[in-house]
Amino acid sequence: MKGIVLAGGLGTRLLPLTKVTNKHLLPVYHKPMVYFPIEVLVGAGIKEILIITGPENAGDFMKLLGSGKEFSANFSYKIQDEAGGIAQALGLAEGFVAESEKVAVILGDNIFEKSISQSIAKFEKETFKAKVFLKQVEHPERFGVAELKGGKVISIVEKPKSPKSNYAVTGLYLYDSSVFEIIKTLKPSPRGELEITEVNNEYIRRGEMACESLTSGWSDAGTIESLYRASALAREETNKSA
Ligand code: DAU
Repeated sequence: MKGIVLAGGLGTRLLPLTKVTNKHLLPVYHKPMVYFPIEVLVGAGIKEILIITGPENAGDFMKLLGSGKEFSANFSYKIQDEAGGIAQALGLAEGFVAESEKVAVILGDNIFEKSISQSIAKFEKETFKAKVFLKQVEHPERFGVAELKGGKVISIVEKPKSPKSNYAVTGLYLYDSSVFEIIKTLKPSPRGELEITEVNNEYIRRGEMACESLTSGWSDAGTIESLYRASALAREETNKSA
């Protein structure tokens, strides 16, 4: 299975922290933010990882991460010229994933408390073509929110005003290679982005989507408050294992 870290976007919700650097290079407790999603993929035994970022700080990513040797992995890089959405960034990875291969896609600002490597590795053998990981949160309206029936996701709504559940869709997505065909059918949303939620809804419509609920901690780190929470989560985990 291949891995992709999406680290583009403008990070405007973190201004002025992101005025001169990319969000994913900011510290989360003791490490640059992008280390966390990379470690999730590497922990699942994924060795071939594509990092997608914007043009402004691409050189800094290479300086920080290099060939991937430090992570015992092989990194390659791709530039997303403009922040056209998560699904647009993922579309740039066509060709990186062979037709017969599966791929784990992770958002560069997602911090998972515990290892989920087993669940990722298991997907390789599963018959489902896609999988999302859900987490119960206090403010679901900030996220993609899953509507569930009989333990299955029946739809996902991006940042709903009236969420149908408190299950946020976290930024770890497992797909087969048909994801690239789905992305080609997408139209920009009202906010002008190709939405990953629409990709997931297409897998749901096809009856090909599985889901798993996380009991361990998870946070995004894209707002001042969530960056603070993510740092606290990382600090707690680090001190536990010390
Ligand atoms: O964190 C989980 C949430 O992430 C999901 O629940 C939502 O469904 C999903 O849309 C996303 O919501 P956000 O509003 O947090 O997405 P954001 O625009 O902050 O982008 C998250 C990451 O995706 C960001 O750290 C880098 C990457 N990204 C984003 C955009 C818009 C790109 O690589 N390119 C882009 O153009």
